[in-house]
Amino acid sequence: MPTPEPGDRKSRIREQFNRIVSDYDVRGPGCFAQFGERLIDALDLAPAARVLDVATGRGAALWPAISRVGSAETVVGVDLSEAMVEATRAEASRRGLAVDIRCMDAEQLEFPDASFDTVLCAFGLMFFPERQRALAQFRRVLRPGGQIGVTTWVRSQAEDLSEVLTEFGHPESLAPGWIDDADQLAQVLREGMFRAVEVRAETITFRYESLEQYWQNARGTGLRGAIDTMAPELERRVRDALSRRLTVGDGIEGVQADAVALIGTARR
Ligand SMILES: C[S@@+](CC[C@H](N)C(=O)[O-])C[C@H]1O[C@@H](n2cnc3c(N)ncnc32)[C@H](O)[C@@H]1O
Repeated sequence: MPTPEPGDRKSRIREQFNRIVSDYDVRGPGCFAQFGERLIDALDLAPAARVLDVATGRGAALWPAISRVGSAETVVGVDLSEAMVEATRAEASRRGLAVDIRCMDAEQLEFPDASFDTVLCAFGLMFFPERQRALAQFRRVLRPGGQIGVTTWVRSQAEDLSEVLTEFGHPESLAPGWIDDADQLAQVLREGMFRAVEVRAETITFRYESLEQYWQNARGTGLRGAIDTMAPELERRVRDALSRRLTVGDGIEGVQADAVALIGTARR
C-alpha cells in the first residue's frame, strides 16, 4: 500500500480525534491526566512561566501546568482537532481559567521566535507526519535555555486490548510512528538539536471499576473503530480474554492494566 501523503495522514488524524473527543480519557482512572501530572513534575516550571502545550487534547498536561505556574494567562494550548479545542475551551471556562486554546498544527506554530519558556507535547509526537519539522518549531518558539517536555507510550493502557485483538486475528495499530524505546526518544530529541536530553520510563497501574469501564475508556483511543465495528460473537470472546488478563483477583472488584510511558526532557 502506498504511504499516505502527510496532508492526508493529518486529515485522518484530525478526524479520528474529532470522533473520539467525547470519550477521550473521561471514564476510568484518567490515564492521560495522570501522566500529564508526571510530565509536569519532571520539569522546572517557574511561577508565571510562559508555557505552550502542543497537541493539548483535553488538557491532560495543560491543567497541571497552569497549577504549577500559578496563572492561566501565560499558558497556551494548541491542537489540530477542532473538537478537542472546543471541548478543552469549554472545560477551561468551567474551571474559570482564562487560558488561550487554539486550533494549530504542531508543524506550523504561529508564534514568534523565543516566545515560550517551556514547550510541552504529551503523547503527540507519534502523530506528526514530519516529526522533525514539529521539533524545529518547538525549538524556534522556545527561548534559548528553555525546556521541552514530551511523553510517548512504551505500553498504553489500551495495549492489552490491542494484543487480544491481535491474538484473535484482528491486528490493530494504535498509532503510526510509536516511539517506545528510551534511546529512540533521546535520539529524536537530539536530532531536533536539543541538549541536556534526559529520558526515563514511568509505569502507572490503572484501576478500572469494571471491565465495562475499561472497554468504554478504550473507545476514547485509536481502537474505537475496531470496538464499534466488532461482531457480537467476537466481542464476547475478546471481553472474556481481557477479563482473564486484567482481573485483579483476591476478591478485589474491577480490573487493572499497567501502562508505561517515556518522559523526555531537554533544553534549547
Ligand atoms: C493522544 S492525544 C494527546 C492529548 C494530550 N496531550 C494528552 O496527553 O492527553 C494526541 C493529540 O494530538 C493532536 N494532534 C495530532 N496531530 C497534531 C498536529 N499535527 N498538530 C497539533 N495537534 C495534533 C490530536 O488532535 C490529539 O488531541
